Amino acid sequence: MVHSSGRMSFHDLLPPQQSMLEEVRAGLDKPQKELSPKFFYDAHGCELFDAICSLPEYYPTRAELSIMRKHAAPMARMLGRDCTLIEIGCGNSAKTRALLKELEPRVFVAVDIAQAQLEASCNALADSFPHMRVVAVRADFARDFDLPTVELGTGRRTLYFPGSTIGNFTPSEARDFLQRWAPLLGAGGGALIGVDLEKDPAVLNAAYNDAQGITAEFNLNVLRNINRELNADFDLAAFRHVARYCAAEGRIEMHLESLKAQRVRLAGHELEFRAGETIHTENSYKYEIAKFQALAQAAGFESRANWTDDDHLFSVHYFTLP
Ligand code: AVJ
Repeated sequence: MVHSSGRMSFHDLLPPQQSMLEEVRAGLDKPQKELSPKFFYDAHGCELFDAICSLPEYYPTRAELSIMRKHAAPMARMLGRDCTLIEIGCGNSAKTRALLKELEPRVFVAVDIAQAQLEASCNALADSFPHMRVVAVRADFARDFDLPTVELGTGRRTLYFPGSTIGNFTPSEARDFLQRWAPLLGAGGGALIGVDLEKDPAVLNAAYNDAQGITAEFNLNVLRNINRELNADFDLAAFRHVARYCAAEGRIEMHLESLKAQRVRLAGHELEFRAGETIHTENSYKYEIAKFQALAQAAGFESRANWTDDDHLFSVHYFTLP
């Protein structure tokens, strides 16, 4: 589905719902049950994530925004005028605004799975930046999809992947992901990527176990989404949120732990849970600067610059393709 009006066009490249059912069932059939974090982001999940971003314990959004506000001008000079900026996972657009103000790209492409969020943020950005063409693409960026290349214009292309969402991938998935983008970005193309830094585990554990319980609600909301979309009957009160930093892997793991032995129906099938059994719902990897540079290098990218906030909580990397 495509529709266009003036400076804006919308492309729906999301696979049909059947594939959500297949993916959810495959994940819940594994010995360690798992669900992809992309299933957090129904309309309510997007609202909960926005609330997480302003929690006192959740430092990444504030730290990244401070980096973007402070360094947008040199970033824009490196990316170059009249470029095509392709943003993946468009969430909270304050960071993007800081960059767009300096960069004034000719074309801005936003890719996200969440329809309402995508449309709202693209409409608002199109209003604020009248000389910019806006292309909204609803897609599952964890999978292969074909960007409408005719829409991308002739400018130099830069991938913008903020928020440390790349931390949802394992390091090898992240490398493959960057490698898959390289042909589209082309020789001389760039990548500007927000990456959360390794730090004191106490700070990390607090960021994913906030006192108000918003992160717990966000985690549990994946079950509500599955109940609605796939006709399941998860009892949200029979699961609890668990998040912990695993130093060996350098990642936060989020799980939903079953509080009792129980059966859940999902699209005509029965799932069994033991008391204490978990569904692994998210990884959030943290990288030292050099470690992430090595990962991007293994995908064929060359490190050009990186910025951190004053408290050294978060990093933004800039790479180009030879
Ligand atoms: C949107 C993937 C960057 O990993 O910190 C926030 C999601 N999960 N609190 C993260 C999240 C729990 C977030 N990312």
